[in-house]
Amino acid sequence: FSVSQGFAQRRSWTEQEFQKALNNAYNKFKDLKEGANADYIPVLAEVDPELFGLAIVTVDGKILTAGDVNTEVSIQSISKVFTMARVIEDFGPQIIQDKVGVDATGMVFNSIIAIEMHKGQKINSFVNPGAIATTSLVRGNTYDEKWSLIKRTYDDFAARTLDINQVVYESEAATNQRNQAIAMLLNAYGRMYWDPIQTTDLYTKQCAVSVNVKDLAVMAATLANGGTNPITSRKVVSYQTVAHITPVMATAGLYDDSGQWIYNIGLPGKSGVGGGIIAFFPGQFGIAVISPRLDVAGNSVRAQQAIKYIVAELGANPF
Ligand code: DON
Repeated sequence: FSVSQGFAQRRSWTEQEFQKALNNAYNKFKDLKEGANADYIPVLAEVDPELFGLAIVTVDGKILTAGDVNTEVSIQSISKVFTMARVIEDFGPQIIQDKVGVDATGMVFNSIIAIEMHKGQKINSFVNPGAIATTSLVRGNTYDEKWSLIKRTYDDFAARTLDINQVVYESEAATNQRNQAIAMLLNAYGRMYWDPIQTTDLYTKQCAVSVNVKDLAVMAATLANGGTNPITSRKVVSYQTVAHITPVMATAGLYDDSGQWIYNIGLPGKSGVGGGIIAFFPGQFGIAVISPRLDVAGNSVRAQQAIKYIVAELGANPF
């Protein structure tokens, strides 16, 4: 399309338009079976692969949904967005740039080579090493202090008290030796800022927070709304904080497929191996889709397709 058509892209939509786009995406992709559940975390392989839920929440608090809106999955890597938000909110954006990094690695989310290449630098808060380092920066002197701050932040973004999926937490805690190794290696490079083993456990717990698709869309809508939750009207984080999360979502939100994502969809996004993806249009709406079957990069196949389809139907690619 021409530049003038690009600039003519829509900036507001009716509830009916959102609902129609969600319904159409649901119908178009409901039988798509491509991909496979994550299985490197044993219990994730047991989640119903057919689960398919979609939600849009607008900055004025309208909630539109399609498919399964009630079933919860573990938030997994989508948590990384909200822990990063907590740290920036409390300490300012420079700390992430200096102590973690803001560069896309172009490598898989749990790459050890990505750490080794630059001695723990040139990573970001959305791959496992950077996420664990970010969690190590959360304010607090004890495990419990740090955890309650993380959990409160997620609850504030979601506008309700979220549960922990204890089974996922225990399954992952028993099998997270690779993440422990990542934390130890970063520690050796002076790039971990709290006890590496306790931090890895905290990170594992944050990944096991349980959400449905509406929760994820409310969390995304809070980002779209500059840090103020559109359901509770509560200021969760500042606009400045959101402005520093958004570019990292745009460049590294879907791991080594982040380029393909932004090329096709144009919205900052974040995926998790539980099957969720969030994205948002600044100033307009947050969107979330849950569908557990993943591609090789660890991103939900159907959630990517559905969001791509919805964004195209709405004309909501800001580029
Ligand atoms: O640390 C892990 O491997 C998981 N708890 C989270 C990874 C994840 O969600 C990456 N996602 N696509």
